[in-house]
Amino acid sequence: MNDQKTENPAPPAPGLRIERHSSVSSTNTLAFARARAGDRGGLWIRADEQTAGRGRLGRNWTSPVGNMFASFLLVDPQPRERIAELPLVAAVALADAIDKAAGTFGLARLKWPNDLLVEGAKLSGILLEAETLPDGRLAVVLGIGVNCVSHPQGGLYPCVDLRALGYRVSADQVFDCLRREMSERLEQWAQPDGFEAVRKAWLNRAAHLGKRITVKGTREVTGTFVDLDNRGYLVLELETGVRETIYAGDVFLLGFEHKGSPGTP
Ligand code: BTN
Repeated sequence: MNDQKTENPAPPAPGLRIERHSSVSSTNTLAFARARAGDRGGLWIRADEQTAGRGRLGRNWTSPVGNMFASFLLVDPQPRERIAELPLVAAVALADAIDKAAGTFGLARLKWPNDLLVEGAKLSGILLEAETLPDGRLAVVLGIGVNCVSHPQGGLYPCVDLRALGYRVSADQVFDCLRREMSERLEQWAQPDGFEAVRKAWLNRAAHLGKRITVKGTREVTGTFVDLDNRGYLVLELETGVRETIYAGDVFLLGFEHKGSPGTP
């Protein structure tokens, strides 16, 4: 059974609420249930473990106790055409939160669109899902998982956790920093031209800028990662010199491909 209790290291910002559970299938699933039941957004859902955590592109997200699992529900945060910017907003907020929690600076680099890497290994992931509610509003859920004390092995990418990196940081500490950084970044994003500041912050942390990468989506494209466009999409320069914008896919650094079964992060 889920024991709902109030978080209490520091009070949440006005308008924000936090639900905490010991075990849920997926905090994203629960966030959508709240939206369908009429929640107006500004709600964090946290769980100590998930029994059916979801990752990007239909994968599983291994979710044992000790790591951090949280979802933030937003309802109509910005016009729909701007929602694709949100994964980058969340990635920058999360990277800053991990720095604050771990007492470091620039620990994680960002892999497009929103994976956090430390020395090439995945420390955390973000899953953005959206659903139009019966009244026409858009529910957007930012689901965030951070490997604090353990990480899965044998997946598509190498993974790592904070403890293995030498940082003793609890899920509570990461979450406490995350909800603050997220509020600040969302506020910045909501300003006129707010995404430009987020885009710059993202590029400052980019893992593969200037490097040759392969993006595997509906097709495979290889080129040099030269920029993010003004909506946060990846711009690759192909060997022909032509620039191509990539809207979705998995990024691999050329020569560092890791093979594994789909279904693991
Ligand atoms: C990824 O594949 O990189 C994204 C992983 C996102 C996992 C988080 S954990 C909290 C939230 N609930 C889920 O079921 N998934 C997200």
